[in-house]
Amino acid sequence: MDGDLIREAFLGFFEGKGHQRMPSASLIPAGDPTLLFTSAGMVPFKPFFMGEQTPPRRRLTSSQKSFRTTDIDEVGDHKHLTFFEMLGNFSIGDYFKEGAVAFAWELVTQLFGLHPNRLYVTIHLDDDEAYGIWRSQIGVPPERIYRYGDQDNWWGPAGAEGPTGPCSEIHYDGGAEKGCHNGRMVAVDTLTGLLRQERDGAPPQPVPGCHPNCDCERFVELWNLVFMQFYQDTAGNRTPLPAPSVDTGMGLERAAVILQGKNNVYETDLFQPIIAQASELSGYPYGADAATDFALRVVAEHARAAAFLIGDGVVPGNDGRGYVLRRVIRRAIRYGRRLGLNGPFLNQVVEQVIPRFQAVYGELAQNREFIGRVIATEESRFAEAIQSGLPLLEQGFIPLRRQLQTLAAEQGLNGHRLRETLSAAGSQIPDWVLERLTAVLSDRLPEGVEAQRQFVSALSAFETFVLYDTYGFPPELTAEIAREYGLEVDLDGFEREMAARRAQSRGDSGFSGAMAMEDFGEGGSQFARDSLVLPNAVVVLRMDAPEAEAGAGRQFRIELDRTPFYPEGGGQLGDTGYLQGPNGRFRVTDTQSPRAGRIFLHCVVEEGDIQPGDAVRAEVDAGRRQAASRNHSATHLLHAALRATLGAHVRQAGSLVAPERLRFDFSHFGALSRDELLAVQSLANEKVRANLPVQSAETTYPEAVRQGALAFFGDRYGETVRVVTMADGDGAAPFSMEVCGGTHLGATGEVGTLLVLGESSIGGGMRRIEALTGPAAEELFIEQSDRLSRLAQRLQTPPAELESRLDSYMQETEELRRRLAATTRAALRAEAEALLTQAVEVEGVKVVCGRTSAAAADGLREMGDFLRDKLGSVAVMLGGVDDGGRPLLVAMVTADLVARGVNAGALARETAQIMGGGGGGRPDMAQAGGRDAARLDEALAGVPARVRAALTA
Ligand code: SER
Repeated sequence: MDGDLIREAFLGFFEGKGHQRMPSASLIPAGDPTLLFTSAGMVPFKPFFMGEQTPPRRRLTSSQKSFRTTDIDEVGDHKHLTFFEMLGNFSIGDYFKEGAVAFAWELVTQLFGLHPNRLYVTIHLDDDEAYGIWRSQIGVPPERIYRYGDQDNWWGPAGAEGPTGPCSEIHYDGGAEKGCHNGRMVAVDTLTGLLRQERDGAPPQPVPGCHPNCDCERFVELWNLVFMQFYQDTAGNRTPLPAPSVDTGMGLERAAVILQGKNNVYETDLFQPIIAQASELSGYPYGADAATDFALRVVAEHARAAAFLIGDGVVPGNDGRGYVLRRVIRRAIRYGRRLGLNGPFLNQVVEQVIPRFQAVYGELAQNREFIGRVIATEESRFAEAIQSGLPLLEQGFIPLRRQLQTLAAEQGLNGHRLRETLSAAGSQIPDWVLERLTAVLSDRLPEGVEAQRQFVSALSAFETFVLYDTYGFPPELTAEIAREYGLEVDLDGFEREMAARRAQSRGDSGFSGAMAMEDFGEGGSQFARDSLVLPNAVVVLRMDAPEAEAGAGRQFRIELDRTPFYPEGGGQLGDTGYLQGPNGRFRVTDTQSPRAGRIFLHCVVEEGDIQPGDAVRAEVDAGRRQAASRNHSATHLLHAALRATLGAHVRQAGSLVAPERLRFDFSHFGALSRDELLAVQSLANEKVRANLPVQSAETTYPEAVRQGALAFFGDRYGETVRVVTMADGDGAAPFSMEVCGGTHLGATGEVGTLLVLGESSIGGGMRRIEALTGPAAEELFIEQSDRLSRLAQRLQTPPAELESRLDSYMQETEELRRRLAATTRAALRAEAEALLTQAVEVEGVKVVCGRTSAAAADGLREMGDFLRDKLGSVAVMLGGVDDGGRPLLVAMVTADLVARGVNAGALARETAQIMGGGGGGRPDMAQAGGRDAARLDEALAGVPARVRAALTA
């Protein structure tokens, strides 16, 4: 079963049990500020469990994209993942423990065909009810039902508050040989006793044997069934939920490991193409060497995770979700470097991720370009960081620390020795850093050999901060590298430093102090908002671009004292244009502001050279800027029109303002109806025609908010902000008022036309609108009317009659489909009649078995019904192969023969086992599936012997 089949089988199984299939929500939880990411299948359903919203049905099932941050630094081993898919079934006040357990067991043993001998279950220490169900209803032997405390068998809440309850897990036994204690399991009662004592305050004891939650590799936790009973608030108080509910979660990747008989997730089809690509790019075969395998796994896992995160709208940043994404991307790149991947490579890996998952998660394909762009940008930023930061760490800080360690152990440290060692340290560390480091270390140097040795074995918050601030090294990355050299990093101290700096930068108008001055050297640039051309801007800084693209010419980052180029921000892309100096001409391909007060022009040399000190003519591509401004003003109109039409709950969740198009993400529950969408578009266009002046003014952020300006929660603001207003000028409240640093039109009329292309879900109560304005809208109109004419021509009908023409085509197709179904049934009936004549007798009992052309179980059942009705007393076993090439079986046994010991369920199971499958059902009727269709005939041929065995047993 490949991953897609497992996912589909799971969801189909629960649909068959009355569950509604729900689409995966976004990885960004909607309206749940307590949660960074969607971390489990139940997250989007929290309001249902809590009774705040009514679910579409009380039984739901989903395959939910999930992301957990806890294990990022572990990824690369065989087990840990950040991103995974969680399969789940949910009961919102419908069935409870009994139903959940019965469904789970049926799915695992019958649909997945796992043998009960391979399965163990766990329950909460106090959950006697669950024990009773597993023991009596399912028949799990008592020595396979283990009890655990809250740590293992209590789940939730996800985030700071939410539903929670005891849980019960199904664990898969990979075999005693994989485990500890020579395969000996600890007795259930012994473990229960130990854990109860521990709960009562006794110190933890070693467990004398293996068990399902053992740390060894023997067991895989396959499925977690949570019996939700309480709501837990942020203070930890629990109150009963409106109704007992069920939330289950099965990691698709783990299920794939088991069902595909693999050793770990990276060997399954969910990772293979990605691993293969990383391996191909680097030239390191997978499976040859532990260290390169580790790196290949990091690259594969993080590429997959990053693609999904960006696909859901997360972009790299310095805090929150953006920071997690940045860590993941940068960690992937770093491990890529170890594989010799020194240029940009991550997008090539992502290119294997998208096709593998896009059929199920369409947002990957939809955002392919965006994903590529985000990764490329982050990769080039980090390349810059790595190039300059890694030597500082690996050839500067780390050797210095080792020297200090030796010195501390051998002679002990004092202020003098410390200063001496530091001043002799290698040239990799800039003087100003050494100077401050000396101060930091001498200030805090403790007494005593061991204390000193420990003190110098941890990089200080200062070193970590320099790497972070100047070179963009996430502190976790610094810590990971340091650990490889046996050094620790004072991450808590770093956090304190950061908090202090944040406070300070709020205090001094967004400028982050001396450290920022050291960053790219002295510099600073002012955005000349009102000019598109500056005839005499002065070059204050020139840096080499990190990776000169082959053939594209030499590249630089240039900083001007004043710049007319708008740096990317607030969703609006950076400007492009030209710099013309006395001795050369550079093309500006992008503009970025990595921090307040600094604006860098990304330049390609067209001719000659431009040097610091040159006075240049800086000229923005005015057409492109105008188009971006048009889309930015249109975005504000759209935002205001959405709020006026749908309500003030509409909140911006992100936007992309490009010259060619605009995209606006916002919170709203449910799709917009056609009427709503038209109303939004028409209101926006009404305000375009009203030609409202677009005005902007500077004020403070609190003042802006007080006046009613909308601010995007994803943005951080400096001391002063710009407020952009579109108002009628009649003294009434403005139509639109937003905090925004982007560029805008003079008046809304310049938008021309705003054309909404479509509206879609980006999951979890977030919607996305894409729109065109001005000339792009006009072009689209022309293209579409042309297409309509072409269609009309091909269907040889006037455009006005296209629809009725299409209707009749579709009716025709439907009729053909119906006839085909009837023909198939007739053919199966004829096959069944032929089988009648081939009945054999075994111990006086008629047995009909044979292979048919049926490709689905219902066809087999229909044939079986026919044979049973005709023969009155018979054992029937029919086989077929489904469209996926998997063998299917249906067994039927009439009541008289059931009474004589012939059991359809057993017969189907035994027959399916020959083909590597399983199944079962009632004694009179059962169904089974296998894996190996080539053995279908052989399996069927043995049926008479199996019936004989049953009769004579
Ligand atoms: N919420 C539970 C988990 O994540 C079950 O889905 O394990």
